[in-house]
Amino acid sequence: MTIVLDARDLERRHALEGSEVTALRGVSLQVEEGEYVAIVGPSGSGKSTLLTLLGGLDLPSSGSVAILGASLSALPDRALTRLRLERIGFVFQRFHLLPVLTARENVELPMAEMGVAPDARRARAAELLAYVGLADRSGHRPTQLSGGEMQRVAIARALANRPAILLADEPTGELDAATGREILALFRRLHADGTTLVVVTHDERVTSEASRVVRMLDGRIVD
Ligand SMILES: Nc1ncnc2c1ncn2[C@@H]1O[C@H](COP(=O)(O)OP(=O)(O)OP(=O)(O)O)[C@@H](O)[C@H]1O
Ligand SMILES: [Mg+2]
Repeated sequence: MTIVLDARDLERRHALEGSEVTALRGVSLQVEEGEYVAIVGPSGSGKSTLLTLLGGLDLPSSGSVAILGASLSALPDRALTRLRLERIGFVFQRFHLLPVLTARENVELPMAEMGVAPDARRARAAELLAYVGLADRSGHRPTQLSGGEMQRVAIARALANRPAILLADEPTGELDAATGREILALFRRLHADGTTLVVVTHDERVTSEASRVVRMLDGRIVD
């Protein structure tokens, strides 16, 4: 089995007004290709901190993260940006779409950053928007979309460069129950189609669908 994600002994400390807050206290996590991992735990237990480290959006105080054998911490900034763009898809609770761009342009953006030719990225964006059920919304800007639609665009964008792993932090947190169910159905389909997923959630429905549930408490993984 291929290990897609290998995190070792992650610690993250924040200096805060002369004192120190420890958000993570030694977390190790390996994720195999095709797994659907749910990360759960009380507020403040370190879930988002862990996910941002796994996605290379932040660096650990100590410990290491590797995606398909490539270590994130060993890289200079530009190489890290490139690796993130190529291998990691990230989905946020509040979508983080660019408001001035249409749905299609938002999905194209990570491909443009990778230097994909306009025709090719346009075709891929159309394919992805169809995959998430939004073929007829490609010209809409975020303000012209519902919350669930915005999240589906964000998921399409995260998939644009065919990442090795998709990371999502509370992807249903801003959505009503029915819309949240649609997003979870999309994750289920992604999993069935072979995508490797790590989803932070308070949502018990995710934990019943995931192939593995990781529980966090006070900056650690507990069993
Ligand atoms: N930039 C920061 N500076 C100082 N402390 C921080 C910082 N970021 C996070 N923390 C602290 O680290 C701990 C873990 O935060 P984190 O956001 O990872 O929790 P969480 O499990 O995602 O919680 P929630 O379920 O509420 O989203 C918290 O005690 C938080 O206050
Ligand atoms: Mg959080």
